[in-house]
Amino acid sequence: MPLSGLRPAPTHVLAHLSDPHLIAGAGLLAGRIDTREQLRKALARVEASGERIDALVVSGDVTDRGDVASYELFQDMVAPVVERLGCALVVTGGNHDERHPMAQVLHGADTDDPQDRVTEVRGLRIIAMDSAVPGYHHGGFSNGQFDWLARELAHPAPHGTILVLHHAPIAYRSPVMQLLDFDGVERLREVVEHTDVRAVLSGHLHVTSFGTLGRVPVLVAGGVSYVDDVGAPRELLMGVDGPQSWNLVEVHTDQVVATVVPVEQHPTWPALSDAVRDYLQTVPEARRREAFSRKRT
Ligand SMILES: [Fe+2]
Ligand SMILES: [Fe+2]
Repeated sequence: MPLSGLRPAPTHVLAHLSDPHLIAGAGLLAGRIDTREQLRKALARVEASGERIDALVVSGDVTDRGDVASYELFQDMVAPVVERLGCALVVTGGNHDERHPMAQVLHGADTDDPQDRVTEVRGLRIIAMDSAVPGYHHGGFSNGQFDWLARELAHPAPHGTILVLHHAPIAYRSPVMQLLDFDGVERLREVVEHTDVRAVLSGHLHVTSFGTLGRVPVLVAGGVSYVDDVGAPRELLMGVDGPQSWNLVEVHTDQVVATVVPVEQHPTWPALSDAVRDYLQTVPEARRREAFSRKRT
């Protein structure tokens, strides 16, 4: 039986993955990253977490080259996981994606229009928007997209809204990545202000980072494929294979909590023994903190 904590369980749990940069076939990303294997490992960790996932969120750069075969591979890899988890799938495009093949494969739509969508899971509204500017690597929304978002947000959802867009609307440290960031942060802040948006989930930076859009937290998931080496000087953009991760996003009635989950399964050991866990089960909840927290000399 799982040990209950002192705080209520989250109302919703999201697995937020970003930047799989999937490549169908034999090619390696940057000549060294097996993107299929990276996504496989990340999805395995999502399932192994034992969490009751409400939505699997993939915030863009789904594929590296925007080709049909890579979207089909994504579909083939993700669909069985979503089926087993019984969760919603929320996907949005990034600068490495191409709208037409993505819409075709993932949504059965023959269009170049951005596939902006609303998914509602037991009262939590997840709005996923394509922030890729066609023909460019920086991000932004068209006037039509800004208007659509404002209309959607005009009415609150019971548990509020999570907004998903690839280009993180925060001031990331890399001067190079700032050339490729979201063009229109101030306008986005104004649209989101005074609405029920509780968090923005983004990617694109290939590093876990946190910031704010007005008073709304922006939670950036590190890349599933590869990560930017943040220990290097900001002028450099150095890829690193090792600390890839995704974010476990827990939505509570009063807060949103993001926890970083490494893609790689590192060696583990029981930091809490079975005996202690079994003992805690026997302690009434009101005395559990005293029983576990008190230092023993
Ligand atoms: Fe990316
Ligand atoms: Fe990107």
